Amino acid sequence: QATVSFDLSTVEPGQIKVVSWRGKPVFVLRRTPDMVQCPDRSVKGEYTVVLGICTHLGCIPNWEADKKIWHCPCHGGEYDACGKNIFGPPPRPLDVPPFKIEGTTIVLG
Ligand code: FES
Repeated sequence: QATVSFDLSTVEPGQIKVVSWRGKPVFVLRRTPDMVQCPDRSVKGEYTVVLGICTHLGCIPNWEADKKIWHCPCHGGEYDACGKNIFGPPPRPLDVPPFKIEGTTIVLG
């Protein structure tokens, strides 16, 4: 299946969901006001939508709710709630998948 639809409104504030898209995990995070703001990477308001694949060597980062970061288990890379690389070997932010918005639905692909 080339495209995947996902209803953003099903994600509670502070919650993250993982959507499978073309065999890859896509993280959908609904940020809360105490998280870092990211106007340049927001998909829709308070949502961060990024590919869940570390830009270093491709491991799957884990969301650490207490620190509000993604932590990569392979070499300790870290990304903030916008998906921006903030620590360790990742050379760039988490990638953003191609998408379009239809109402509260995001269509990946
Ligand atoms: Fe994530 Fe190396 S693969 S830090």
